[in-house]
Amino acid sequence: MPQPPGFEPKDDQSDRALRPKRLAEFTGQEAVTRNLSVAIAAARGRNEQLDHVLLSGPPGLGKTTLAHIMAAEMEAEIKETAGPLLEKPGDLAGILSALRPGSVLFIDEIHSLKRIIEEYLYSAMEDFRITIQLGDGATAQALTLNLAPFTLVGATTREGSLSAPFRSRFGIRERLDLYSSDELTRILSRSATLLDVEADYDGLQLIASRSRGTARYANNHLRRIRDLAQVRYANAITVPVAEEDRRRGPDRTRPAHPYLSGPEPSPGRPQDHRRHGRRRGPYHRGHLRALPDPVGLPDQDPAGATDQRQGLPPSRPSAAGGSG
Ligand SMILES: Nc1ncnc2c1ncn2[C@@H]1O[C@H](COP(=O)(O)OP(=O)(O)OP(=O)(O)O)[C@@H](O)[C@H]1O
Ligand SMILES: [Mg+2]
Repeated sequence: MPQPPGFEPKDDQSDRALRPKRLAEFTGQEAVTRNLSVAIAAARGRNEQLDHVLLSGPPGLGKTTLAHIMAAEMEAEIKETAGPLLEKPGDLAGILSALRPGSVLFIDEIHSLKRIIEEYLYSAMEDFRITIQLGDGATAQALTLNLAPFTLVGATTREGSLSAPFRSRFGIRERLDLYSSDELTRILSRSATLLDVEADYDGLQLIASRSRGTARYANNHLRRIRDLAQVRYANAITVPVAEEDRRRGPDRTRPAHPYLSGPEPSPGRPQDHRRHGRRRGPYHRGHLRALPDPVGLPDQDPAGATDQRQGLPPSRPSAAGGSG
């Protein structure tokens, strides 16, 4: 079925195939999933839509995944768009007026919404109503649209860029953190099962330790290493396969992230999520600069990974830094 404007999904098929579908399948982020499961159970108990949710945190940690999970747990439909795709109030009005009671509207990169769109959203979020102006000057008319009660789920890598009035309209605000190596190993183990490849614990742990706390990187490594395992190691992922993959260096064929599409970064340069946040996202058509793929870069200890999330050099203590 053709998607209405503003509903183009950005993730590829293989990314989606590994996505947990329910909260119980979602590994890690325990505080976040605990809070969400209480909110979901309460909303379902009252037979109401879920409160508006803001998910923030570095790329590849599961914000989009959680938005879909929330809709699934609420047994609601989900409509997906992104801040840069909403140009005019009419775009927003079209999307909002198509929502059904309880629907989830997921707006990715919500920090990049135009101010005027953000202001229209205020009344939509609070009163489930928007008033748009038709025409100009003496012939101008105001048209009020009553909306079905819906849940707005916003995702952002730059929570600090959201205005305070906007942020305060989300009843639930959750920040996702980098995964521990243990959590990534569990994520990889589930993904290996879904990809139908054998894997031993040590092999998966090695991949996890090189994935910089990021589920998307871990899954991307696994998919590539699976190819190697299939061709040269009897379809089993073990430490030697993971080691060989590392010796072969960064993959030049498959972008590790939708933001990745430019030239290979200089080796050894640490990834900087703060700079990544300022970069134009995947919804823009202009030139995109590359992010370093962690494959082939020096291994990170958990403290180093935390520092990168804060955009600090790995030598700084991990407790330092604000909201990133
Ligand atoms: N907790 C998890 N358990 C298992 N897999 C996960 C988890 N979190 C993320 N993933 C996997 O990582 C991939 C990236 O997740 P997702 O697209 O939800 O990240 P994101 O936070 O929306 O990233 P971005 O900011 O780039 O949009 C998904 O394909 C999913 O398979
Ligand atoms: Mg996403």
